[in-house]
Amino acid sequence: MVLTGAGISKESGLETFRDADGIWSTVRIEDVATPEAFARDPGRVHAFYNARRRGLLDPKIQPNAAHAALARLERAWPGPVLLVTQNIDDLHERAGSSALVHMHGEMLKARCGGCGTIAPWRDDLGVDTVCPACRGAGTLRPDVVWFGETPLEMERIVAALAACALFVSIGTSGNVYPAAGFVEEARYVAGAHTVELNLEPSAGVTAFHEARHGPATVLVPAFVEELLARV
Ligand code: APR
Repeated sequence: MVLTGAGISKESGLETFRDADGIWSTVRIEDVATPEAFARDPGRVHAFYNARRRGLLDPKIQPNAAHAALARLERAWPGPVLLVTQNIDDLHERAGSSALVHMHGEMLKARCGGCGTIAPWRDDLGVDTVCPACRGAGTLRPDVVWFGETPLEMERIVAALAACALFVSIGTSGNVYPAAGFVEEARYVAGAHTVELNLEPSAGVTAFHEARHGPATVLVPAFVEELLARV
């Protein structure tokens, strides 16, 4: 099982959250990434995600060698591989990964609070945007998981954690739960070997058997080649 965070998309040109130049250094979580923020000021929340969605759709933003290496791992590994990402970008699927869980949702989808429909979405969202399914106005929100909400597909994740022999965490600072606790479940419940690949030691680095520190585009392809050389 592989867990990824914002660090894997950094070298593609997307910002991380908690680095010195990260998103949370300029915007407050409680203003843009909670259900309360959306209830209080939906226009502000939409503006935040509209800017990020436009950024993601910039043709300059492309999957990098780390995304590509994980897609290769899925294709070449003899057993099942599940990629769980905290990222709401689509760079893993663009690189070719398909056994993929977006536990924090997806920036390129919108969800209707009225009828529950989830639709692919590439345009800006606004307080007057009409749901394509129920025609309700102002009911759409980005299909992302905000602080205080439950991550998606947790049953599938818990099952994969319980069965995994190798757990690799890539480009995540280890600050946000439940993802930050996956290493302990994999290690102590499943008996998995656990590896961190990150630019610098994460908050949870001591929980891993092994840690390598450097840019994802260097570490991840090398690690995948090492794994595949052993099968
Ligand atoms: N290669 C590898 N790691 C990198 C790189 C890189 N090129 N650049 C940065 N990193 C590392 C940073 O050192 C940091 O430890 O990636 C990590 C990114 O951490 P965060 O910004 O906290 O991102 P993440 O862990 O994905 O955040 C988790 O928090 O705000 C929420 O919902 C949001 O999914 C997100 C969650």
